[in-house]
Amino acid sequence: MEFTTIKGFKDILPDEVGSWQRLESTARRLFEAFGFFEIKTPLLERTELFSRGIGRETDIVSKEMYTLKDSKGNGMTLRPEATASVVRAYIQNRLYQKNPIQKLFTVGPMFRHERPQKGRFRQFHQINAELFGDTGPRSDADIIVMAMCLFDSIGFSGLSLNINSLGCQQCRPRFKSELKDFLLGKIASLCVDCRRRSETNPLRVFDCKVGACNRIVADAPSILGFLCDECRNHFESLKDYLNGSGIPFVLNHKLVRGLDYYTRTTFEIQTDRLGAQNAVAGGGRYDGLVKLLGGPDHPAIGFAVGVERVVSLMAEEFSPEVKCPDLYIAALGENAERESFQWVTDLRKYGLWVEMDYGSKGLKALMKKAGRLGAKKVLIVGDDELSSGKGVIRDMKTKAQVEVGLENIVTNLRKYFK
Ligand code: HAM
Repeated sequence: MEFTTIKGFKDILPDEVGSWQRLESTARRLFEAFGFFEIKTPLLERTELFSRGIGRETDIVSKEMYTLKDSKGNGMTLRPEATASVVRAYIQNRLYQKNPIQKLFTVGPMFRHERPQKGRFRQFHQINAELFGDTGPRSDADIIVMAMCLFDSIGFSGLSLNINSLGCQQCRPRFKSELKDFLLGKIASLCVDCRRRSETNPLRVFDCKVGACNRIVADAPSILGFLCDECRNHFESLKDYLNGSGIPFVLNHKLVRGLDYYTRTTFEIQTDRLGAQNAVAGGGRYDGLVKLLGGPDHPAIGFAVGVERVVSLMAEEFSPEVKCPDLYIAALGENAERESFQWVTDLRKYGLWVEMDYGSKGLKALMKKAGRLGAKKVLIVGDDELSSGKGVIRDMKTKAQVEVGLENIVTNLRKYFK
């Protein structure tokens, strides 16, 4: 039997890891500059956290969760997203007592049993940021600006920022009932799921992937026409902040974003280069979620970046950085190999990338190997060099050779590579 990865799961090979590291380290640096601290939560949580937090009618909860039972029959689920977990950690550890404004980010894998396609996997990774404790539109702007700065910092252009407001508990019910009436008029043309959703949770019809349903909601009423004064002012103020920051945006009243917890602002950053899976990041405000999950009535807003999607665009846009060893030690004979083994270790501890062959070979073969690895310099040591106390360093680019004392070779080489 040949073992291969499970459908929708993939290996991330060394060639790709450079882009992953670049994206993650850029995000860490930038998020820290915005005052965010990293948090790590378990991959497995109680199923109820997600079904209650994300919403039972959502595709994620109703179709896509990897759920298992423990020996007592309790449901546990591999996290399909990070927000509910971060909210749980915020409540459980009373993080709000340390600081009324908590800014947290997390990086790691998520699991959704979706139909795999380009840009859509069953295990995928997110870089996720959440800001707790502020209701005002400036925190919305802060979050969106941070997301846009991340793409700017990795050199992306041509992305489109879509924004919407889903209103609040005061104004959304009126929109929902209008939408319900609209959908009931088209009920025969909706898919089976959307017929049910139009009764139970009409906003979810906007998420449907069935073409006929998409065509119907294209003519649906816009929630932006139903916002109460407070929600409208909040949204207008956010738009002012974005304009002031020189960040262009598109109003998209169909952006309901697939998760039930959103209130007011939702946003998505989209590309036209990934086909159907065009969102590289998405997020929004979720002022009721902390309370819904048993915590204090604290507002929050956040977003998540889809790492695989961003990395695939980076691969198209930038050629990968080619890394080569700083030094290759061509050790000829048993004595030289034994001595060199210690030098290799000491130099590696210092942070230099040093290579040496595992098998004993002649000089010609070793030089060929050093060339294949792209080593910048080669140190040549054999019995003669050991007894004279002087090795030879060859610069592989210029072919120049210099003698180097072997007595303090590690110190000498460290100076040489400074
Ligand atoms: P989401 O829109 O479900 O939001 O996911 C955020 C991003 O994760 C998407 O824009 C996409 O780039 C990536 N993504 C989602 N599903 C997949 C998949 N199956 N394969 C590859 N990439 C995927 C959330 O998860 C919210 N928790 C975001 C948030 C944080 N809202 C507030 N705070």
